[in-house]
Amino acid sequence: MKSERLLTPSTFGRRILSAKSSREYSSRLPYCKIPTALTYRCPFNQQKPIGCHRRYNTAPYSHHFTSQVRMSSQRVPIEPQRVDAPLTQSATFLVVSATDKPGAIETIRSALSGLNSLAKNVSIRDLNAQFACTVGIGSDIWDRLTNLPRPSELRPFSEIRGKTHTAVSTPGDLLFHIRSERRDICFEFERQLMDQLGDSISVVDETVGFRYFDVRDLLGFVDGTANPVGPAVPESVLIAEEDTSASGGSYIVVQKYTHDLPGWKNLSTEEQEKIIGRTKIDNVELDDAESGQRSHKTLNTIEDEDGNEHDILRDNMPFGSPGSGEFGTYFIGYTRHLWVIEKMLERMFVGDPPGLHDRILDFSKPLTGTTFYAPPASLLDHL
Ligand code: HEM
Repeated sequence: MKSERLLTPSTFGRRILSAKSSREYSSRLPYCKIPTALTYRCPFNQQKPIGCHRRYNTAPYSHHFTSQVRMSSQRVPIEPQRVDAPLTQSATFLVVSATDKPGAIETIRSALSGLNSLAKNVSIRDLNAQFACTVGIGSDIWDRLTNLPRPSELRPFSEIRGKTHTAVSTPGDLLFHIRSERRDICFEFERQLMDQLGDSISVVDETVGFRYFDVRDLLGFVDGTANPVGPAVPESVLIAEEDTSASGGSYIVVQKYTHDLPGWKNLSTEEQEKIIGRTKIDNVELDDAESGQRSHKTLNTIEDEDGNEHDILRDNMPFGSPGSGEFGTYFIGYTRHLWVIEKMLERMFVGDPPGLHDRILDFSKPLTGTTFYAPPASLLDHL
């Protein structure tokens, strides 16, 4: 007779949780054998033997089991202010300004210091949805809100007037970059956040972005390829010893662009590829032009006087509404050195050489432009 042992939810959960990450867990799956001599009971439905679920890593097992295994595999929420949080299917970019209502600053401080709890409330409801929120604080509100030394490069976005195109500067005291695999999770977090902020803020801009196929922008190109990876991420994004009072934080620049898609579609694919600096279908980098008109990719490759290249981390998202003819890209760049993004913008709008601006701008118009500093989570907790 087969021996029968009861696997309780907690012992079963512990086994699964002992795998550090879902990737580690799934890589162990082929070797994860259930002894055939034992009949384990399903931890979530004690009436069923666990054999009803067949293999762990295939779809056919029942939905309750699937969701429990997946939930267990993502053990904890993503910490607040993780600027390197995953690229997700959905994101909300919320820019707000403080009102002059009595107690507005205190209300904002209290909401920001409670953000960690708010994030937990929402993210626990589906840990696999990879919820993350990063808050950026603008230059104008920094002193009033924090009473702390200013990050050395924190300044308002300054308008850049090229011969043909202008990078406009628009207001904004706070940015909430809300990311998740699930639109409803972004929505719920923003809803609870707005309840807490009440009339202490007014909304300057709220843009809902979505993943478009293989991370393409609405111009049809894969966007984000040249982002740094591995140790280059903190190296490019996090302020370090150069500014001890701001270390662990990051500067953020956002710009909301709308595209002239009919105009863009009138160009041949080769012309579009020359403008971007990559091929459209298979995303292969093209050589830099020796002289004359430079591509978007080349204009955004920044070197300092010592020849060191400086990367930024972009998490751009398409947004829009075909019904109202709106097609856009929400640009968001995280950087350790604000001057790097400022230099990119100057090269795009003024051109290099001056006069030869980034031709992406002939089809993309910035409606906003705002700079923030994203402090480490510990700073927000102690506001
Ligand atoms: C209309 C808005 C924009 C669109 C649709 C767009 C799209 C793209 C695409 C398709 C690429 C090539 C693939 C890649 O490496 O990601 C790219 C590269 C890049 N873009 Fe943009 N971009 C926009 C605005 C900006 C702005 C405003 C900046 C900086 C201020 C910027 C900085 C960069 C950088 C740093 C690269 C990588 C360059 C390299 O290869 O080293 N982009 N962008």
